Amino acid sequence: MVSETAAMDAVYRSPINRDVPPAAPGEFSPLRIGPLAVWPPVVLAPMAGVTNPPFRTLCRRYGAGLYVSEMITARALVEGNRKTLLLASFGPEETTRSLQLYGVDPHHVGEAVRLLVGEGRVDHVDMNFGCPVRKVTSKGGGAAIPLKPRLLRGIVRAAVRAAESVPVTIKFRLGIDERYLTYLEAGRIGEDEGCAAVGLHARTAAQLYDGEARWDAIAALKQAVTRIPVLGNGDVWEAEDALRMMRTTGCDAVIVGRGCLGRPWLFRDLADVFEGGEPRNPPDFGGVVEVMLEHARLLVQWLDEERAMREFRKHGSWYTKGFRGGAPLRQRLMQVTRLADLEAILATADRAQHFPRRPCASPGARPRAPSRSRCPRATSTTSTTRRRPASWPRSRTRGGRELA
Ligand SMILES: Cc1cc2nc3c(=O)[nH]c(=O)nc-3n(C[C@H](O)[C@H](O)[C@H](O)COP(=O)(O)O)c2cc1C
Repeated sequence: MVSETAAMDAVYRSPINRDVPPAAPGEFSPLRIGPLAVWPPVVLAPMAGVTNPPFRTLCRRYGAGLYVSEMITARALVEGNRKTLLLASFGPEETTRSLQLYGVDPHHVGEAVRLLVGEGRVDHVDMNFGCPVRKVTSKGGGAAIPLKPRLLRGIVRAAVRAAESVPVTIKFRLGIDERYLTYLEAGRIGEDEGCAAVGLHARTAAQLYDGEARWDAIAALKQAVTRIPVLGNGDVWEAEDALRMMRTTGCDAVIVGRGCLGRPWLFRDLADVFEGGEPRNPPDFGGVVEVMLEHARLLVQWLDEERAMREFRKHGSWYTKGFRGGAPLRQRLMQVTRLADLEAILATADRAQHFPRRPCASPGARPRAPSRSRCPRATSTTSTTRRRPASWPRSRTRGGRELA
């Protein structure tokens, strides 16, 4: 029997992480993003279709850090698209409201940031220049924007100006492919244009999410960008990966993507190691079931029940990966349309099963990114009718900021 309060069993750690010491006192500092001080220096990666208010709320209950929204399209926001407004909302527990914006032209980006900041909706804006979808990059959008430094500069400048005192950061990839590496120039542009930090997903767009992230490139970016923090991203699966990334590259914080899918307690492990302690064992299946139900209930507060349950399906697959009987369970979870059905299915689970005994970073344990990457369609940069959103989604809970 594996105890959830005991220090983590070696079986859950990759060999490379077994002798990594936790943070020494004073070894790392809080991440400074403008006026924000983030401790531990850990950022939840923006993930379209994943990092909505319920998921962010769940993750932040495990540990502090910065929890970024999924990507919001600037133009849709400016046009008052209802679904976009819902995605751009925050839960009552979200004290630091961090939103990622995607845009291909300075005009809409400036308008969107002005709207967000003018209405006091955000405390941090991150800009996405890493979308790898070919249909988008072939039209010059997403990860292809840094190929046009003047355009990149124009978009970043528009965002920073419109944001006034709200800090703006940018996140980008190494480049389109090995032949077109743009990250060093993108980082310098971010620094020159007044960004509060820059983040590098250390893969090319051609790689999508495959292959090992190139941490050496994070180190090179840290050498090139000296006046603002550099955030490293790629392959933080276990808490010690974050320590190793920061120690070997000198970066100022880590951005955690797929490592927390189906494993939001990774943020507890990260908080533990940055505080100088040991991470704890992952929960047994009974504990995982409790997390699943909590996640599903948060989704139901945010969306109507049927949509919430559809949203939950991919998470259900991630949570149950590697458990005995996981495959038939996943099939049943794929049919669920009501919370009561989910509760009934999970009531029959073998709660005593311990967490699959293998390193969280092992290829078999890693959650697979959805095969269809969600990126906005590449839109033309021509102007469109500008409307302010009629209304933001209405609160369905108490508190100042809504879980809309
Ligand atoms: C399902 C999914 C959706 C993503 N959506 C976004 C996004 O909206 N904006 C963004 O900047 N990156 C997005 N990414 C990339 C992640 O933020 C991160 O850069 C990437 O997963 C690499 O980190 P990892 O190796 O820790 O997973 C997405 C990744 C996944 C798996």
